[in-house]
Amino acid sequence: MEKMIEATRRLVNELCSIDTPEDTRKHEIKHEINQLLDEMLSLEKQESESSEEAQVVTPFVVSVKNGGEIDYEKVKKQFGCKGIDESLIDRVERLTCRKAHVFLRRGFFYAHRDLDKILDRYEGGKKFYLYTGRGPSSESLHLGHLIPFLFTKYLQDAFKVPLVIQITDDEKCIFKNLKPEDTKKLGRENVKDIIACGFDVTKTFIFSNFDYVGGKFYENMVKAGTCVTRNKIDGTFGFTGEDPVAKYSFPAVQAVPSFSSSFPHLFEEDIPCLIPCAIDQDPYFRMTRDVAPRLGYSKPALIESKFLPALRASGKNGKMSASDANSAIYINDSAKDIKRKINSAVTGGQDTLEDQKKYGANLKEDIPFQYLSFFLEDDAELEHIRKEYGEGRMTTGEVKNRAAQVVTEVVEKHRKARAAVTEEMVNAFMAVRPLPSMFE
Ligand code: TYM
Ligand code: TRP
Repeated sequence: MEKMIEATRRLVNELCSIDTPEDTRKHEIKHEINQLLDEMLSLEKQESESSEEAQVVTPFVVSVKNGGEIDYEKVKKQFGCKGIDESLIDRVERLTCRKAHVFLRRGFFYAHRDLDKILDRYEGGKKFYLYTGRGPSSESLHLGHLIPFLFTKYLQDAFKVPLVIQITDDEKCIFKNLKPEDTKKLGRENVKDIIACGFDVTKTFIFSNFDYVGGKFYENMVKAGTCVTRNKIDGTFGFTGEDPVAKYSFPAVQAVPSFSSSFPHLFEEDIPCLIPCAIDQDPYFRMTRDVAPRLGYSKPALIESKFLPALRASGKNGKMSASDANSAIYINDSAKDIKRKINSAVTGGQDTLEDQKKYGANLKEDIPFQYLSFFLEDDAELEHIRKEYGEGRMTTGEVKNRAAQVVTEVVEKHRKARAAVTEEMVNAFMAVRPLPSMFE
């Protein structure tokens, strides 16, 4: 590419040095420049196509080659989701009569499908419900897992709607080779963390797949499964003929809580749901939206987030993941652990204090700053730090300290709430029961 650019420059210079209007060399040069430009265009096209392959986002893998960052705009386009703009956020604020959640107003929940239609329904006094879930693979959630649940709690309070939460204890046996006894136990522990986010027991049904799948839910799984070919599943989830068949049947299990008839104890008519989740879960629901009309059901709507980044290296490009203990903050980490982990995080600060004063920090690369922008609720303080740190008047150490404080507060608050969750409360949330005042 560089050579071609240089050759073009040379030709342009030559062209400029020709004085006589009829010189035939002029036409030759024009032709050569055009050829070079065509070649450069096709090279660039090839490069952008291979960079699409370099970025993979599925429910099972989130990776970016070449150590780059996730290009969320590209993911959104590839998946075919819409962006969330100011006017949509304003509309949410108007309809719910409250300020939008930090995650929404700062652009972490950034993509959607049919959110506008859900708002139309809400405005017209028609019903919808919320659906989200968790795959129990570790005893403690990490901070990233908390994000969709904290956000779902806000949506439940703001719209006053029922919520179903799926615990996919089957999924982690199929994909992670865990034993059912273990995932069931982990699932129950995770439910305590979920309840600690503050959900309203009169509006929330939490279920384990191993316990609940059957009846109408299973009928819907069979109906959905009959509409989808193996090729389609391979294309959507990246499976191959080498994968065990259980993997092929799982997408239907995650799909059908999107259909209200899967919960006959809750819903009598077909109403749509809104699914808050991180963008990695989109493939399940793209598939679900494909089959819904064929079964005569409403398509689920989605509101989708970016990932909370991992603290370092492996994760700068990816999402916080439970597999690397030092790059993730667990919600049972102590204040000391949190401080140590944040101190070791990747930052965008300069190497010396002098350079920091001169150039300021690169905020896009700075994980402690990004954590502040997720969890520091005070808009004015965040703006202050953005300016002072970005322009070099604040040091990396100060920002790390503030981030550790803010994250510790979130974790401590959660820990207290979790300590108050009893086995009886878990049973109450998980009982198959009607919820008579779930829309009030
Ligand atoms: P799981 O348990 O892997 O993740 C639970 C939820 O957390 C989101 N998430 C993150 N969000 C922000 N930053 C991160 N670093 C991060 N890591 C994970 C996930 O997208 C998810 O929303 N198969 C699902 C369970 C499931 C589900 C659903 C999820 C069943 N039905 C419906 C969403 C909606 C799972 O194993 O999630
Ligand atoms: N598949 C998700 C995971 O691996 C868990 C999950 C199940 C979920 N149902 C969901 C997440 C609905 C968001 C919405 O963690």
